[in-house]
Amino acid sequence: MRKDKILVIGSEGQIGTVLSQALRQAYGIGGVVTSDLNPPRSAVIGAFEQLNVLDGERLFEIVKKHKITQIYHLAAMLSAKGEQNPKMAWDVNMTGLLNVLEVARQEGLDKVYFPSSIAVFGGETPKKNTPQHTILQPQTMYGITKEVGEHLAQYYYAKHKVDVRSIRYPGLISYQSMPGGGTTDYAVEIYHKAVAGEPFECFLKPETRLPMMYMPDAVRATLELMDAPVEKLSMHYGYNVSAMSFSPSDIATVLKVHFPEFKVTYKPDFRQQIAESWVDGMDDSQARADWGWKHEYDLGTMTQDMLLNLQKIKEKSGAKI
Ligand code: NAD
Ligand code: SER
Repeated sequence: MRKDKILVIGSEGQIGTVLSQALRQAYGIGGVVTSDLNPPRSAVIGAFEQLNVLDGERLFEIVKKHKITQIYHLAAMLSAKGEQNPKMAWDVNMTGLLNVLEVARQEGLDKVYFPSSIAVFGGETPKKNTPQHTILQPQTMYGITKEVGEHLAQYYYAKHKVDVRSIRYPGLISYQSMPGGGTTDYAVEIYHKAVAGEPFECFLKPETRLPMMYMPDAVRATLELMDAPVEKLSMHYGYNVSAMSFSPSDIATVLKVHFPEFKVTYKPDFRQQIAESWVDGMDDSQARADWGWKHEYDLGTMTQDMLLNLQKIKEKSGAKI
């Protein structure tokens, strides 16, 4: 086991639930402290601290108490929730990140992880094979906070030598945890409905193509980036990472092979405009060259694994998932 001491902030969310488990495997139960605004949903393995990341004093206390050396800062308001309360999205996403960067600077932490997003793109950004370095004109408050967050990460590295690392995640799909208010959430919900034998009403138009990634690839990307020697990294900005791109109609077609009776209808809402401001797919050659990133799952292999695991959960609980 390694001797770093990890703090995960936002551990009860879609990514935190899965990433915290992977971190415990790598660092041991005693090597990981989880924390969230909300109390844990299930029995906690290891130390848990309830924390509002906007409370800088409490964050310092936790870092000192547990002798933390690395922070994975996942707490944020995502794109759809953020558009419903843009002021709060700015506060949570920006003040939260600043508090994390300040504690890292003042306490001399080794590394910080800050997830960015495809939401940094928009406006004049090239839509296809979007380059690493390109026009960023985010159209949502969430995207604005991610773009500014990337600048802050680069600034804290250049100015204060805080080793911040970041990935522009595509929409993430998982069976272990539900998403928390984003525009790509439909791609998780559709699997749950198919396995439950219920119809699905999609809030995006059938042809809306977005970059997506299966959670095991996202977790592995995160751990590989955080493990990479610092001299291999050409930037401390959000790395593009790619795996697959698909539309709601693509995923519905694949699911109908497994569930011929599955019904999908479309009722686009305000999230359609958000999705249309994003891109089709990213050029991730920089991540591949710098730290050896390579995805494993595509839509077919992800679907097989999602269905297998959701069926197991359904059988175990004996109830609807
Ligand atoms: P989520 O909404 O599922 O989880 C966020 C967690 O943060 C929640 O458990 C919430 O309780 C907690 N939180 C919110 N405000 C907090 C506060 N003030 N203090 C402490 N905790 C707070 O989000 P997620 O999908 O797990 O995303 C994690 C990170 O990854 C976010 O930064 C998000 O922007 C980024 N990201 C996610 C995706 C995706 O598809 N899930 C894609 C791109 C980027
Ligand atoms: N999946 C996220 C969202 O839809 C993208 O960062 O908000």
